[in-house]
Amino acid sequence: MTATVRALADGTEIPVLGLGVWQIRDGRECEDAVRWALEAGYRHIDTAQNYGNERSVGRALRDSGLARDEVFVTTKFDPGPRDPAAELERSLERLGLDAVDLYLVHWPAGGPTRAWDGMQRAHERGHARAIGVSNFGAADIESLLGVAAVPPMVNQVQFSPFEFRRGLQEACERRGVALEAYSPLGTGRHLRDREVAAIADRLGRTPAQVLVRWSLQRGLIVLPKSSHHDRIVQNAAVFDFELTGDDLTVLDKLDRTHGTDRALEHPWW
Ligand SMILES: NC(=O)c1ccc[n+]([C@@H]2O[C@H](COP(=O)([O-])OP(=O)(O)OC[C@H]3O[C@@H](n4cnc5c(N)ncnc54)[C@H](OP(=O)(O)O)[C@@H]3O)[C@@H](O)[C@H]2O)c1
Repeated sequence: MTATVRALADGTEIPVLGLGVWQIRDGRECEDAVRWALEAGYRHIDTAQNYGNERSVGRALRDSGLARDEVFVTTKFDPGPRDPAAELERSLERLGLDAVDLYLVHWPAGGPTRAWDGMQRAHERGHARAIGVSNFGAADIESLLGVAAVPPMVNQVQFSPFEFRRGLQEACERRGVALEAYSPLGTGRHLRDREVAAIADRLGRTPAQVLVRWSLQRGLIVLPKSSHHDRIVQNAAVFDFELTGDDLTVLDKLDRTHGTDRALEHPWW
């Protein structure tokens, strides 16, 4: 059975399942989603400066009554000319926290090394327990490792059976960078796939559970998003079953990236 927590290269423990809150509106909608997730046993929330909902994440965390060290909180630097260390201080104010567990460069705007000095400063100040990146390809990771005093602990990328970036996964694992799967359900699109549905039917599970489970069994930290109570609960009920070797093979073949080491086929930056 898959462990629910793993260690990053620096020893920081990270829950392998987190709630993603992209496109969940600040206010009641986001507070409810985070509250339901914490009640369902999630101990990892993935937000970002440009999701506009850090305040609600913070409020739901406080209202939960859970101790700060029981929940792993990630936010992401909205890349641009601003200083990542100063922007994290603003995030912490919105979240109502002294530190986040993980702070990521959201994408390599202006090149893979541009934000890193400021990210390291945020880390030195103790405002981020670990720092990392998102949407970085293997070449970006190599460039960054060439200059980093504090190496990235995580690379968060689009990852699912349909985007099975084996080359990127291997490159990151070789360099001690843990991979996180964003859009593990294809922002909903992959839930309608026939082969995913067939496996779900046979196992008496849902397509979402099959896709989340695939990410876990492929060694990823996985971040499904939902703003519905039943789905949030359902997406976390993935630690009491396993996909067989044959299931994994069928799902692996859905890959449309040819096992690329790139982070995205069509970067938006
Ligand atoms: N770093 C980056 O650049 C980046 C980019 C994209 C995403 N992310 C992170 O990854 C997280 C997840 O990715 P995502 O938001 O693209 O989407 P996703 O998790 O792949 O899919 C979410 C979609 O699937 C639906 N859904 C969720 N669970 C379901 C279920 N059990 N049954 C039926 N439908 C279900 C949701 O609808 P409802 O909400 O209506 O239930 C929503 O439309 C984000 O929230 C964010 O934290 C990061």
